Amino acid sequence: MSQVSEVLRLSPTVGYEARADVAVLWLDNPPVNGLGDTTRAGIHAGLKRAFEDSNIVGVVVAGSGKAFCGGADIRQFNTPAASAWPLSRDIQQLMEASRKPVIAAIHGVALGGGLELALGCHYRVVAQDARLGLPEVNIGLVPGGGGTQRLPRLIGVERALDMIQTGVPVTGKVALQIGLADAITPGNERALSGEDVVAAAVKFCREVVKKSDAHPVVAARDLNASNVDFDARLASVSRKDRNASAQKASVLCVKAATQLPFIDGMVFERARFDELVAGTESKSLRHVFFAEREAPKFAEGRGLALRPLERVAVLGAGTMGVGITMSFVNAGIPVTLVEREQAALDRGMVMIRRNYEVTAAKGKLTSEQIDERVGRITSTLEFDALAQADLVVEAVFEDMGVKQAIFERLDQVCKPGAILATNTSRLNIDVIAAATKRPGDVIGLHFFSPANVMKLLEVVRGKAARPDVISTCLAMAQRIQKVPVLVGVCEGFVGNRMLTPYWREAGFLLEEGASPQQVDRALTDFGMAMGPLTMADLAGMDINWATRKRLAPTRPAHLRYSKVADRICELGRFGQKTSGGYYRYEPRSRAPIPDPLIDELIADCAREAGIERRVITDEEIVERSMLALINEGAHILDEGIAQRASDIDVVYVHGYGFPAWRGGPMFYAETLGLDKVLARIRALRDEHGAHWEPSPLLERLVAAGAQTFDRRH
Ligand code: NAI
Repeated sequence: MSQVSEVLRLSPTVGYEARADVAVLWLDNPPVNGLGDTTRAGIHAGLKRAFEDSNIVGVVVAGSGKAFCGGADIRQFNTPAASAWPLSRDIQQLMEASRKPVIAAIHGVALGGGLELALGCHYRVVAQDARLGLPEVNIGLVPGGGGTQRLPRLIGVERALDMIQTGVPVTGKVALQIGLADAITPGNERALSGEDVVAAAVKFCREVVKKSDAHPVVAARDLNASNVDFDARLASVSRKDRNASAQKASVLCVKAATQLPFIDGMVFERARFDELVAGTESKSLRHVFFAEREAPKFAEGRGLALRPLERVAVLGAGTMGVGITMSFVNAGIPVTLVEREQAALDRGMVMIRRNYEVTAAKGKLTSEQIDERVGRITSTLEFDALAQADLVVEAVFEDMGVKQAIFERLDQVCKPGAILATNTSRLNIDVIAAATKRPGDVIGLHFFSPANVMKLLEVVRGKAARPDVISTCLAMAQRIQKVPVLVGVCEGFVGNRMLTPYWREAGFLLEEGASPQQVDRALTDFGMAMGPLTMADLAGMDINWATRKRLAPTRPAHLRYSKVADRICELGRFGQKTSGGYYRYEPRSRAPIPDPLIDELIADCAREAGIERRVITDEEIVERSMLALINEGAHILDEGIAQRASDIDVVYVHGYGFPAWRGGPMFYAETLGLDKVLARIRALRDEHGAHWEPSPLLERLVAAGAQTFDRRH
C-alpha cells in the first residue's frame, strides 16, 4: 500500500487515501484482492465517501500487492458471504451513476470480477504487462457481473466474443489497442506494485476532470453487431471441449447483449450463470481448479525452510531426460545433462533443439529464445559434473541394478544437502534410497512423457524422505509449471497402479464380446482423451507384459485372468512401435486400424476360457471401466498412498486424459453417489468374482452416510 499519504481503513480489506483532490481506493485482500464481502463493502463505502466529499473530484480504484483484482474470492464460494450486500452490480451502478469520474488503475491482473469492476469504471489506466480477461469459461461459467454485456459495448462484439469464449486474457498493451484501456503507463514492464499505475491514474483523473464533467459509461454505449454470425460461433464449439456448455452460454449472452436492453441483458446473463453454477460441468471444473491448488499442500513441511534449487543436473539424455531438461531450462533453471555415451548425448541435444524448432515453427518461440534455452544446458559425459547440483534427476534405464549403482555413485559425488531424485515409473524408491547413506535426501520425481509437455508430476515419497526434501520438490514443480501430486511408494504409484484394473476390465470386456474399437469409442465418447487400448498401443505393451510375467507365479489362482494382452505380445506385437498391438498401424502412422486377426485372437481366448460372447453395451463398458478406477482409487486413499481423493483426480485429469468436466474419477464417483457406486461394485463382485471386492474405505464411508471422499475445502 502507498506510503504517500494517510490511508484510512474502510473495511478489513479496503483502504481509502485522499491524494489532495483525488481519492484512491486500495483493494487489500491478498493474494489477488479477491472481491470478497468485506472488499465489496469497502469499495462501496469508499465510493460513497468520495462522492459526498466536495474536496474530491474523482476516484482511482487500485490493487495493493501484485495485482489489481483476480476476481471473486474463491475462498468464499458457496458461502453466504458470496451473496452478501453489496454485490458487484451494486458497486457498478453506484459508479455509473456518479458525475465524478472513477478510474481503474490496473497492474498485474484484472480477471473475471476484477475486469467487470474495471468495466463499471469510467476509465481504465493499465500497466503494459498487466493481463485483463474474463476466464470464467475455464471453470465452466459465464461472467456473472455484467462482463458479457459491457465488454462487447466497449470493444466490439467479435473481440469480446474472442475473449469471453476462450477465456484468454489480453495484455495491457493490447487492451489499449482494442479500446479496453484508455491509457497505459510506459516503462512499467514488471510492475510489482500498483504505485506507478496509480500515479498515472491520478494524473489522468485530473486531466479528464478539466476536460469534461460528463464521463463515459460503458453500459450506456450502443452496440453494433450487424455482421456477427452467432450460429457459426455456436457451431464452432466442440462437443469434446471440457467447457462446451459454458462456451455456448457465453455466446448466447453476448448475442443477448446485441438484442436486449442493457438491464434485460444483465438478467439474461445472470440466469445463464445461475444455471451453470448449479450444473455438473462447472462443479467438476471448479473441483479440478481447487484440487490443483490443494495438491501441492503438504502439512508436515509447513514452516520448514526450502532447500536452495539453483543448479539442476539430469542423468540420462533419453526420451525422459530430454523432456525433463527442457522443463527446467524453460523455467530459466540451468541444467547439467550427463550421459555415459557421446552418441546418446548428441542425440539428446539434437532432440532438444528439434523440439524447440517445432515450437518456433508455430510462432511460439524466437530463434534467440531457442539459443537462450539451449545455452542453459551444459552437456557432459563427466559424472563428477554432478558434484555442484542442488538437485539430480536420474532418468536412465528402468533397471534396479543400474539405478542402485548410480545412486551409490551419486552418494559419493554429490554435495551434502543435494536432493537425489529418480524418475523411475515403477521401481521401489525405498530400495533405491537404501543404496545411499542419505536415504532422507532421495525422492521419486515421476514425470510423464513427453515431460516437457505433460503437466503432471508425481512426487514419490519413500519411507525415509525428509519433509523439507518433499516440500522443496513440490515448490520446484510449481516453479517449472508442473502440477505436483505427492504419492507414496507402491507398484505403479497412483496413476499407473489404477491402470492395472482399468486395463484388466478392458481385457474382460473384450473376452465377453466387445471389440477393441467399441471399448475405446465408448470411453472416448464418455470424454477420455484416448481409449484404454489405443493408450496401451501408444505406451507399449511390452513393459506390462514383463510385469505380468514377473508376477505370474504369485497370482492367486482363483482370480479371473484375461490372456488377450499376453497373446498379443507373444506375436511380437507391442503397440505402435511394432506397427501392431490391439490395432495395426501403417508405416509412420499413428492411426489405429481394426485388425481381424486380433478379433480372432480375442474370440479364441474367450473360447478357451469358456466364455459365451454376447452383445456388450457402451454403458456397461463405461460403468465397469470407471468403477475399476474408482475402487482402486479408494484403496490407494485408504492406504495413504495419496494424501486426498482430489489428488487422485488431479493425476487422472493431468496425466491420463480424464475429462476435467467430470472432475476426475473420485469426484465422478461422488456425482454418481458413493452408495450407488458401492452397490454396483458389490453387484459386479457377485457376478464376476473377487477382483471386485469393494474397497474397505468405500464400505466405511457409505456406512457412515458420507457423500464425499474428502471433507470439502
Ligand atoms: P531411454 O532408454 O530413452 O533413455 C535412457 C538414457 O539413459 C539413455 O540415453 C542411456 O544412454 C542413458 N544412460 C543409461 N545408463 C546411464 C548412466 N549410467 N549414466 C548416464 N546415462 C545413462 O529411457 P526413458 O524412456 O527416457 O526412461 C528413463 C527412465 O524414465 C526410466 O526409469 C523409465 O522407467 C522412466 N520413465 C519413462 C517414461 C516413458 O514414457 N518413457 C515415463 C515415466 C518414467
